[in-house]
Amino acid sequence: MTINESIASVRKSFRADLDSFPSDQREIELLRSKYFGRKGLFAGLYKKLAVVSNKEKPKSGQAINAFKIELQSEFEEKASLISGDNKDTDEQSLDLSLPGFPITNGSIHPLQQTLDEIKNIFKSVGFKVAYGPEIEDDYHNFEALNIPKHHPARDMQDTFFVENDVVLRTHTSNVQIHLMEEQEPPLRYIVPGRVYRNEAVSYKSYCLFHQIEGLYVDKNVSMADLKGILNYFVKRFFGEGTTMRFRPSFFPFTEPSAEVDIWDDKRGKWMEILGCGMVDPNVFDNVGYDSSIWHGYAFGMGIERMTMLKYGIDDIRLFYQNDVRFLEQF
Ligand code: DAH
Repeated sequence: MTINESIASVRKSFRADLDSFPSDQREIELLRSKYFGRKGLFAGLYKKLAVVSNKEKPKSGQAINAFKIELQSEFEEKASLISGDNKDTDEQSLDLSLPGFPITNGSIHPLQQTLDEIKNIFKSVGFKVAYGPEIEDDYHNFEALNIPKHHPARDMQDTFFVENDVVLRTHTSNVQIHLMEEQEPPLRYIVPGRVYRNEAVSYKSYCLFHQIEGLYVDKNVSMADLKGILNYFVKRFFGEGTTMRFRPSFFPFTEPSAEVDIWDDKRGKWMEILGCGMVDPNVFDNVGYDSSIWHGYAFGMGIERMTMLKYGIDDIRLFYQNDVRFLEQF
């Protein structure tokens, strides 16, 4: 047999062995040495070089080398497929020194963190948590809160209409009405939830955002109680050293009304954080509470706004883009 004939015969036998490739690791090793071992078929091929003429030797040697590289890579590919299948049972293929796959941790959305924090502060001083409808009738979102039709106060909150007299709530104040319709005083609640406004989207306004409403009704509730609770809240949420002020304002459902500002050192100015006031007697009339006996305070704040102020975020849209580079920072 010439060298080329021998190569052809090894190739033929190799093809057949590849087709019935063993799945057992020991048989694979046997097959490996059948071809590549010290006494294997390749060793035999190299031996044959001894009888080749000196002129032919380099060419024949190169042919065997190339052939060997080709078969070896086919063999290893097949063998690694098999041992991959057996990974669980074959301890030898388990490389404990390989680095593991990194696990990426999720994180709690900054709005949820703020919400949890605010909820916990109020819960620790006796507030319960309630929820209410996002699709609301005109009565609960406006009318019962002392905002009659055609009242200019409606323009403060651009409204999404679902149909005539049905809206996506523009604030969580609607739940004040539901709570008082369903329960007798005294009551003390905070109400977190989503609200909707038909405003042009920009760095400071989004068509949907979140609020927390507060409502406390009891005998002898005064503006001093309102100031006390909000002062306590602000110090706990923004830090002991935070400076705040009450500024007279107007909301149809509170009388008197105020807004609370905190001093923002970084921006060098007062920043509004919430609206509040004493529940307007008209609102009590609407829900059938006797306003000569019961008094109450209410407040409402935006969760996005609180988060932006606390962490120095300057674009509300970041909360809704799900950009991991932003979310990871919280
Ligand atoms: N509902 C008001 C708004 O969305 C915020 C607000 C102001 C809520 C005063 C209150 C309140 O409960 O007393 O702008």
